[in-house]
Amino acid sequence: MWLNETLNIKYPLIQGGMARVATGAFAAASSNAGALGLIGSGGMTAEMLKDAIKEAKSLTDKPFGVNLMLMNPEADKQAQLVIDEGIKVVTTGAGNPGKYMKAWKEAGIIVIPVVPSVALAKRMERAGADAVIAEGTESGGHVGELTTMALLPQVKAAVNIPVIGAGGIASGKQALAALALGADGFQVGTMLLAAKEAPIHENYRQEVLKAKDTGTTVTGRIAGTPVRIIKNKMAKEYIKREKEGASMMELEKFTLGGLRRAVVEGDVDTGSLMAGQVAGMVNKEDTLANIIENLFKELKEEQKKIAEVNL
Ligand SMILES: Cc1cc2nc3c(=O)[nH]c(=O)nc-3n(C[C@H](O)[C@H](O)[C@H](O)COP(=O)(O)O)c2cc1C
Repeated sequence: MWLNETLNIKYPLIQGGMARVATGAFAAASSNAGALGLIGSGGMTAEMLKDAIKEAKSLTDKPFGVNLMLMNPEADKQAQLVIDEGIKVVTTGAGNPGKYMKAWKEAGIIVIPVVPSVALAKRMERAGADAVIAEGTESGGHVGELTTMALLPQVKAAVNIPVIGAGGIASGKQALAALALGADGFQVGTMLLAAKEAPIHENYRQEVLKAKDTGTTVTGRIAGTPVRIIKNKMAKEYIKREKEGASMMELEKFTLGGLRRAVVEGDVDTGSLMAGQVAGMVNKEDTLANIIENLFKELKEEQKKIAEVNL
């Protein structure tokens, strides 16, 4: 597929640049397992990102990338840092990467913004993106409105650049479905929270492994900052206050530092346990290498089965 052929990596898979989870070591481990590892720079200062890049470089000689959250107060510095550090791939979220595009392209960086809609995908194509990641609302973390099933084929039809499918992929069957919808590669997040290498608190991992199909919810739909997390005390209280018309400022108090509380402290009551709807089928801890290898083994098996279906 476009993704692995272009980057010369084993699998057409991006390990989503999950803030606080995707450290330099985790990105390197994902790249060593045959995917494209990404450092999740959300919540990092430029100095922290520099250290994470250094760590990743010391642990792998395979390509890896950086996910930049453009609302980050140090986004300008981080945008320059990826150039100085010779990073090959940058994915972007939460904002418009337009102002960095010229410098990134001159540096030969492959730029892949995450998009929740056709309009944004077209805008990113016009701005010079090499590909887009169409991410459905099934995903863990910050989400849009559309499902992967509806979004992916519409984005694919609307742009002439490759489209990576994300949101709701945790098995070979789902990867095959994304392929059928036009994906030129896949990005996953939630299924990798089950990886032994994921540097998350054990309490968080157990909540993901235990979660059922309906175990996640979205906070901030009304406030305009939708985030998919595992239902817990904080999520219920947030949504209750949101429905009562609480102000953005008041609501922010609930989530401020929430991901850190989940990842570092393992606080499953007030932490922001970001995870997607596929948490219901992620129920076994394993190594990154096994998780990724099994995904593509199943994808190939399912592809054969489907080819034999009589229509
Ligand atoms: C814990 C967690 C944190 C995430 N943080 C980010 C982030 O900082 N930036 C980003 O672009 N996407 C982030 N995502 C989204 C992933 O990169 C990926 O697109 C998504 O998880 C794919 O959907 P899935 O969860 O159904 O696999 C996050 C996802 C999770 C589960």
